[in-house]
Amino acid sequence: MTEAGWQELRFATTPEKVAELEDWLFQHGALAVTLEDDADEPLLEPGPGETPLWQAIRLVGLFGQEADLKALVDGVPDHLLADPGVQTEQVPDRDWERVWMEEFKPMKLGRRLWICPSWCEPPDPAAVNINLDPGLAFGTGTHPTTALCLGQLDDWVRPGMTVVDYGCGSGILAIAALKLGAARALGVDNDPQAITATTENRLRNDVPAEALDVCLPPEVAAYGLQGRVDLVVANILAGPLSELAPTLVDLLRPGGQLVLAGLLTEQAPALIDAYAPDVSLSVAGEQAGWAMLAGSRRPGSVPG
Ligand SMILES: C[S@@+](CC[C@H](N)C(=O)[O-])C[C@H]1O[C@@H](n2cnc3c(N)ncnc32)[C@H](O)[C@@H]1O
Repeated sequence: MTEAGWQELRFATTPEKVAELEDWLFQHGALAVTLEDDADEPLLEPGPGETPLWQAIRLVGLFGQEADLKALVDGVPDHLLADPGVQTEQVPDRDWERVWMEEFKPMKLGRRLWICPSWCEPPDPAAVNINLDPGLAFGTGTHPTTALCLGQLDDWVRPGMTVVDYGCGSGILAIAALKLGAARALGVDNDPQAITATTENRLRNDVPAEALDVCLPPEVAAYGLQGRVDLVVANILAGPLSELAPTLVDLLRPGGQLVLAGLLTEQAPALIDAYAPDVSLSVAGEQAGWAMLAGSRRPGSVPG
């Protein structure tokens, strides 16, 4: 197999038929089955444990070279297909681990920050380097929302600050803040996998445990940070960011800085309004249709 490569059968189907078609493919010798979006429909921020599906799905069965794809195509029950067309494709074998490693390269974000995968030497050893590999939780720096936040942290973090990274994912923003000079950071996420990923990335970056705590949302109050945080950064989505307004504002000291990302440009005005009583937010950056808001807690805004 290593020499000859693989073959793929690609089907258009719908969520109701996926399980039966997947089962049929495995029964007929598929080595792996993957699902792809067939209509460019984003699945935004599934909750922990949720695995929502696209409405139009391309299901891909991977077979060895010995499989008779023509016989398989003829045999697929019609009721399992959303579209009569089934495509077959030859897939040359490659060193997949190498391909992946070649695609994820060191990235410069902001003025001083570099995100470097573990298999690369930092291109600028004197820069602020974060060692991070793609993993289970969101946040490698490749997404525009993370990149926008990293640029803002590079501008705003000052030595000694206390920072909260709400929706920490991989912990990339909290770790960046600490490497940029913050004294202490708290990462918060409602997904237990993010708690694990942040802890692993803390260790990988030699960040001491006393500098970076990480917890689930109900545990935040125990840290006694209400009204004392210098900078809160939250890269989630417009809906949760709006619901979280009282929580995030309560953490900030008067004059403390807030950075929000994960919203689309057209969602900015509503979110600015939602925070307006306590924080004067404005659009501080935009990339690929995503906007970042930044501003400070109004001095007169009373901690809740
Ligand atoms: C887009 S990722 C951001 C990860 C990382 N901070 C970054 O900038 O790349 C959003 C994270 O927020 C978490 N999240 C979503 N809703 C949340 C909520 N209501 N409370 C806490 N975390 C939440 C998700 O589990 C996910 O890890």
